Amino acid sequence: MKDSLKLAKYLAGLGYGSRKEVAIAIRDGRVTGESESLRFDGEPIDPPHGLVIVMNKPAGYTCSHADQGPLVYDLLAPRYLKRDPKFSSVGRLDAETTGVLLLTDDGALLHKLISPRSNLPKTYEAALARPLEGHEAALFASGTLVLRGEDKPCLPAHLEAMGTRTARLTLTEGRYHQVRRMFAAAGNHVEALHRSRFGPLGIEGLNAGEWRSLTSAELASLKTPAQGQG
Ligand code: URA
Repeated sequence: MKDSLKLAKYLAGLGYGSRKEVAIAIRDGRVTGESESLRFDGEPIDPPHGLVIVMNKPAGYTCSHADQGPLVYDLLAPRYLKRDPKFSSVGRLDAETTGVLLLTDDGALLHKLISPRSNLPKTYEAALARPLEGHEAALFASGTLVLRGEDKPCLPAHLEAMGTRTARLTLTEGRYHQVRRMFAAAGNHVEALHRSRFGPLGIEGLNAGEWRSLTSAELASLKTPAQGQG
């Protein structure tokens, strides 16, 4: 009895229904196998908590649970939306920004990754309204650029021109609208923004809106970044 209560609580936390619904499913024999090989209606049980997902965020979706309108969480599998604890995004991308977004239900890992001490490099590709003038790389690398409304300068960032109006910018911090505000401070305007890397992770093979869970090797590389990577 005690074990089936524990099992009902566990499966309810993974979004399989309320504790009562899951208890009925267990009683009806819909849950089979044991710990590692547990199945619900014959299908393997979803991964346990501590999951990290990488998504290719499409434009038009927001990252805050409190927002109205399409949320990045709406793109997850329906059962994942019912998990407790919930998934949260690791930092935020603006509604119109696309590309690598991590989501996790591991609160401790989330805090570690968004902490200013994490220093994980994040790479963005920006399409600009005006041609680069040539002074931007030195300005962004200087460690002296102070954004409007702030007093602490941005940490040195690496800019690489890709074309006359396209650039790749790598940051190790994540201030509000940072890329857009850095280019604004340099007299330009970001028209489109895409994050191509988050630490060791990219989104190769994922179309806009698609996601997958990280492999254990990817998870390990994120938790203990290699030297020089952050
Ligand atoms: N910088 C921005 O300006 N927007 C983002 O979404 C991410 C970084």
